Amino acid sequence: MPPFSHQPVLLNEVVTALQPKAHGRYLDGTLGGGGHAEAILEASAPDGFLLGCDRDPEALAAARARLARFEGRTETRLGDFAGADRWICAGSLDGILFDLGVSSHQLDTPARGFSFQQDGPLDMRMDPSGGGPTAADLVNGLPAGELADLFWTLGDERHSRRIAQTLVEKRRNRPFTTTGQLAASIERVCPRRGSPTHPATRCFQALRIAVNRELDSVRDGLERAFPLLAPGGRLAVISFHSLEDRLVKEFMRREARDYDVEGPVDHPHLRIPRPPQGRELARRGIVAGAAELESNPRARSARLRVLERLPKP
Ligand SMILES: C[S@@+](CC[C@H](N)C(=O)[O-])C[C@H]1O[C@@H](n2cnc3c(N)ncnc32)[C@H](O)[C@@H]1O
Repeated sequence: MPPFSHQPVLLNEVVTALQPKAHGRYLDGTLGGGGHAEAILEASAPDGFLLGCDRDPEALAAARARLARFEGRTETRLGDFAGADRWICAGSLDGILFDLGVSSHQLDTPARGFSFQQDGPLDMRMDPSGGGPTAADLVNGLPAGELADLFWTLGDERHSRRIAQTLVEKRRNRPFTTTGQLAASIERVCPRRGSPTHPATRCFQALRIAVNRELDSVRDGLERAFPLLAPGGRLAVISFHSLEDRLVKEFMRREARDYDVEGPVDHPHLRIPRPPQGRELARRGIVAGAAELESNPRARSARLRVLERLPKP
C-alpha cells in the first residue's frame, strides 16, 4: 500500500468557518488523512476536543497516526457519519465538518478498485470489511436497464444505455473482475477522441456512489448531525459534484427558512410557520482561490457550504 497522501481542500476556509476555540468540541465525520482534523485541533488549543470517524479503516489508521500528538484531545472510530447521533449527544458540539467523497489515497491505491488509471480488483467499497456489494457485483449482476439508469442518474453519462448494453453482452462470456477490464470496455464504446477526461470517469463515479450509498449517507448524515450542534455551532460541508451539493444546499435552505411544508411541494398555501433552525453563511458556497487551484487540482470542483445553528426562540 502506498503511504497515505491527501491534500486537504479549502483548509483555511474550513477553519475560518468553524472558528475552533479552546474548550470547543468538534466532529470531523470524514477524517481521511486527518488534515482538516489536525487544523481544527491546532486552532482549538490547548483543550479543544475532536470526535472523528471514517468508513475506511486505512483512512482511520492514517488519521490516528497523524493526530497522535494531540493525546487526550481526540476520540476516533470506524463508521459512517450518518450514525454519529448514536455516539454523540444532541446539542453538544461547536462544529461539524463533512468533507465528502473519496480521498486521493483511495483513488491512487489500485487495490481499492476506485481507479480506472491503474488496474485493480473491481471493488470500490470505502469499508471493505463492512460487506455489501462491490462494483463488480453491480456491473455483473444488474439488468441492463438498471445499470444504464445508474450511469445516467449518478454519473450523468450520456451514453449510459449503449455502455450498459455492451457490458451486459461482454459479461456473458467473462464477468468483470478488474478496473482495467471495465475501463477498457467503456473506452471501446466511447473512444477518447482527444478529450483529456477518460471516457470511464462518469461510470466509475456512478458505481462508487452506488456501492457506498453515498447520497443516502449525505441525506441522513445532514439530518442527524445538525441537531448535535449547540446554538451558534456550525456545520461545514465540502462537496465535489452537483448531486451532493444539491442535497447540501436543499438541506441548508430548508433549515434556514421560517416554515415547514406538508409533503414534497413548497406551495405558499401548504406552509406551516416555524422559527428558522439555522442561518446560512455565504449562500452561494465558498470555492477555492487561484493559489489553491494551482497547487491542488482536486480543489477545482470543491464547494464549501456552512450553516450555523440558531438558538431556540
Ligand atoms: C475527501 S476525504 C477527507 C479528507 C480529510 N478531510 C483530510 O483532511 O484528509 C473523504 C473521506 O471521507 C470518508 N467518507 C466518505 N463518506 C463517508 C461517510 N458517509 N462516513 C464516514 N466517512 C466517509 C472517505 O472514506 C474518505 O476517507
